[in-house]
Amino acid sequence: YVLKADGLAAGKGVVILEELADAKAELTAMLADAKFGKASQKVVIEEFLDGIELSCFVLTDGKSYKMLPMAKDYKRIGEGDTGLNTGGMGAVSPVPFADEAFVQKIKDQVVAPTMRGLQLDRIPYVGFVFIGLIKVGENPKVIEYNVRMGDPETQVVLPRIQNDLFELLQATAFGTLDSINLSIDKRSVSTIVAVSGGYPESYEKGKAIRGIDPSDFVVHAGTAIVDEELVTNGGRVLSATAIGNDHNQAIEQSYKALAKIDFEGIYYRKDIGFDL
Ligand code: GLY
Repeated sequence: YVLKADGLAAGKGVVILEELADAKAELTAMLADAKFGKASQKVVIEEFLDGIELSCFVLTDGKSYKMLPMAKDYKRIGEGDTGLNTGGMGAVSPVPFADEAFVQKIKDQVVAPTMRGLQLDRIPYVGFVFIGLIKVGENPKVIEYNVRMGDPETQVVLPRIQNDLFELLQATAFGTLDSINLSIDKRSVSTIVAVSGGYPESYEKGKAIRGIDPSDFVVHAGTAIVDEELVTNGGRVLSATAIGNDHNQAIEQSYKALAKIDFEGIYYRKDIGFDL
């Protein structure tokens, strides 16, 4: 049984329970005892979806749309997908289990109806749509919509888009996306996120970062320059992106880049791609 506080609950408002009696008790706690405050004044009871997650990105100018490369991220802090949720500890694109037939299903069953729905509801949306999906059997199910790109998915999706990103965004803004032919690099891209010790709970900042090889593709997130020294300045510090002929090659290169980098408390998952 999946119970979800309908309001904002800092990512903590979803509870999954095996037994009906526990689900009833939890529902009472949420609705009657305000377990999540105002957020659980209304509760959504959802189907439990058992499968593997992936992220689908769409760019729309409000009239037409382009599907961008799919990605898969790894949200949990611990290896084997254990522990607390994070923004994402690593990502790969393409997604090996999202073959052409599955992507077509995503387009027909999710993306096209979503775009039609925006128009029917007269929602003039221009920009990125990020659809969180789960593959249940051979079918895509929607978990969430975001109106933004994802982190760390962006670090693996954008490098595969061979078009000039500015021209793509300009066409989106000017309503001429239809005229653009997307060109996608078939190779695999991976990124692995290095975080501060303690993240996603409390962590320290200001640790000196050493060893970034300028020839590696390192994306900065929580870094700062203080007294001309590069230091950590957030939980999600940086991510090492790499390109390979397949996801294993790309991931290996990401780990090689990270192996050169050091800061006090550095942590990154050593098993990105373990389930592919
Ligand atoms: N990586 C998930 C997100 O950006 O929401």
